[in-house]
Amino acid sequence: MAVAIITGASRGFGRALAEALAGRGWDLVLDARSAGPLEEAAAALRRHGGAVTALAGDVADGGHRRELVAAARELGGLDLLVNNAGVLGSVPLAPLGTYSLDDFRAALEVNVVAPLGLVQEALPLLRAAPAGTVVCLSSDAAAEAYGTWGGYGATKAALDQLSAVLAVEEPGLRVWAVDPGGMRTGMLAAAEPDEDLSGVPRPEDVVPAFLLLFDRRPASGRYAAPSLLESASGPVLQDARGEVR
Ligand SMILES: NC(=O)c1ccc[n+]([C@@H]2O[C@H](COP(=O)([O-])OP(=O)(O)OC[C@H]3O[C@@H](n4cnc5c(N)ncnc54)[C@H](OP(=O)(O)O)[C@@H]3O)[C@@H](O)[C@H]2O)c1
Repeated sequence: MAVAIITGASRGFGRALAEALAGRGWDLVLDARSAGPLEEAAAALRRHGGAVTALAGDVADGGHRRELVAAARELGGLDLLVNNAGVLGSVPLAPLGTYSLDDFRAALEVNVVAPLGLVQEALPLLRAAPAGTVVCLSSDAAAEAYGTWGGYGATKAALDQLSAVLAVEEPGLRVWAVDPGGMRTGMLAAAEPDEDLSGVPRPEDVVPAFLLLFDRRPASGRYAAPSLLESASGPVLQDARGEVR
């Protein structure tokens, strides 16, 4: 059975993706810092019949990252690593002129250093898998200059570049950085406390874009979920630069 590690799977997008993969028969290794919500999510996911290992911890902790990969090894290997856990940095969002450098460093640890650490830990298993895949959750704030989104956006831009270079260095893997578009989650609510988010897609509305990637396995690159969903009925995929794959 295929095995995936999904970080940050107790709620939001990570949880929705875990639900979809569990429904497709995947075995899962999941984490989040708060044990209670993570265990609740894992219990619900186990109803699909697959193995679900839930390890509470912080992705910024190297020992925890080793535990995640060891758990995948125990399940038989690792086919898919989803670097989903992410933080906003300063909340409320702040302009760069007054941005807390401590908040920025902390966001870099979670959004950039931790995904690279997990990739390094997981590479031997991913290379041995028949179709080893890394997915990193990006954001349009990585590419667009939105006021007060600079700290978070810079971490996601760094993650995009790590993903792009990893793809070059590991041609045997698929490495996709994916901008999911806005999703109605706790993170977006914290970033936009005064906005009415009722019209924003739910994470489960965005998951089919990721399933398309898994099914079609286009070239490594950066993709945006809204265009993936638009292309769903077509025979080709375009990456975020508009290149046809
Ligand atoms: N929502 C959006 O509109 C949007 C748009 C573009 C990109 N994204 C990206 O999509 C990803 C998921 O976002 P989301 O909106 O689903 O976020 P969310 O609702 O805040 O959920 C984040 C998940 O990650 C876990 N997490 C946070 N920090 C962690 C850490 N240091 N170690 C381990 N787990 C941690 C959280 O659980 P604990 O708090 O218990 O640790 C939770 O399970 C993020 O990378 C985000 O940057 C989101």
